[in-house]
Amino acid sequence: MTQLEREDVQGLVFSGYAAMHEARYLFYEVADPAGARRWLGELAARVTTGSAGEGAHCTNVALTHRGLAALGLDPEPLSTFAPPFQEGMTTPYRQRVLGDVGPSAPDMWAWGGPPGSDSSAPEDRLHVLLLLFAPDGGAMDSLLDAEMSRATGEGALRHLQTLQPEPLPGTISAGKFGVEHFGFADGMSQPVIQGTGQEDELAGEQARRHVVATGEFVLGYPNGYGELTPSPWLPGPDSGKVDLGRNGTYLVVRQLKQDVHGFRELVRRLAGTVGDDADAEARFAAKLVGRWYSGAPLARTPHRDDVDLATDNAFGYAEVDPYGERCPLGAHIRRANPRDSTAPERARALELTNLHRILRRGRVYGPGLPDAATEDDLVERGLIFICMSANIERQFEFVQQTWCNNPKFSGLYEEQDPVLGTPPPEGGLFTVQGSPFATRARGLTNFVTVRGGAYFFLPGVRGLLSLAGRS
Ligand code: HEM
Repeated sequence: MTQLEREDVQGLVFSGYAAMHEARYLFYEVADPAGARRWLGELAARVTTGSAGEGAHCTNVALTHRGLAALGLDPEPLSTFAPPFQEGMTTPYRQRVLGDVGPSAPDMWAWGGPPGSDSSAPEDRLHVLLLLFAPDGGAMDSLLDAEMSRATGEGALRHLQTLQPEPLPGTISAGKFGVEHFGFADGMSQPVIQGTGQEDELAGEQARRHVVATGEFVLGYPNGYGELTPSPWLPGPDSGKVDLGRNGTYLVVRQLKQDVHGFRELVRRLAGTVGDDADAEARFAAKLVGRWYSGAPLARTPHRDDVDLATDNAFGYAEVDPYGERCPLGAHIRRANPRDSTAPERARALELTNLHRILRRGRVYGPGLPDAATEDDLVERGLIFICMSANIERQFEFVQQTWCNNPKFSGLYEEQDPVLGTPPPEGGLFTVQGSPFATRARGLTNFVTVRGGAYFFLPGVRGLLSLAGRS
């Protein structure tokens, strides 16, 4: 049994802070390294951890590789971090891996873009990410005032930009889930980290489906291979090493702009792919995602939405839907987590799939497009996608490249994730498997554009103190 040191792990690993309806993500540049280390050391005492509960508000902090260098870390320890984190998100190689091309290319990003681009927080100056969460607007204003003056008051940090997600609706803390801008309930399917106690609630196939080794998400513990994920370190006393990674993880942030009007138009235009009845539009939209608007999974309820199954996550594909006749093989959730369909034997398939899980903590930004809107209001809206994984390449990047963006995923041909993909100018393809034959929707357009992004390291509290030079 893994004993997870919850008191040393930042709380975002355990919770999306659903009771905290307001969130702000602040980007800073280190202006004075000694002052910034002092600030970090003091902040460590205020950071929300997995043992503290959520209290009146929540605070977490993460750093980029350039941020660690700006704090004064030497090249040797800096080289012990995971390569994608060291290199950053915008190298030509990573642009290809992530599919960040055309309108999603980093030199067009609002933040995190390459040095010299128009980004308000270009990657060479993007050092620190402070994540603040509060239950309401008043509490957020006080928290912001206090944290902003601590960070910048004595010139330790320079504020670059703040991302502001929309407040969560009041119903969220009552156990409901968020709704993303295309209109789908989101956040129901998450891996369950071994050692959190949540795994005790699952047994049998449900446990095999969702329980994932601690080291897949927290450094310092055995991962899905039974090994310790390489951890960064600092030189310690007596020529020893201080494990800087223990209880930390890597954090991926991507600002994904959504073309909601374009999505709705496409659904109207192509709904005929799945029939001409009154429910065809909702059914076609559900086929693209793999869940109905309510959240109910197609694998469980293929013909109609069923709110009683809105939070259902007790399903696989191999037994009930091996050929994608319920949930298309290329649907977003089937690509992002193919569950038991990655190998002939189901238990083995789940083991393999669970080497590529991510912990999602996204929140929407920008106002919703009213249901009655007949044209695009040109207001920017989307998802501030945040996910965590101990191994960026094997988890986040693999999901994005080898599953979502792979044109040959699951025996398909020339298709991409219908939600995330960047189809060619002549339009993308999406196959809806069915019996006796499949139909193919043509002319898919691009609905999601990357507006910014970066890789961060979310240290444990002891890691923060080591970085501050206080351990
Ligand atoms: C604006 C962009 C996106 C939208 C609108 C979107 C929407 C959704 C929705 C509606 C669900 C179903 C709810 C749930 O299962 O929790 C979902 C699930 C999921 N998404 Fe996305 N998503 C987006 C971006 C991404 C990205 C960038 C990734 C990773 C590369 C991703 C990975 C996943 C995963 C892993 C699941 C859970 C699948 C499962 O376990 O069954 N999503 N997404």
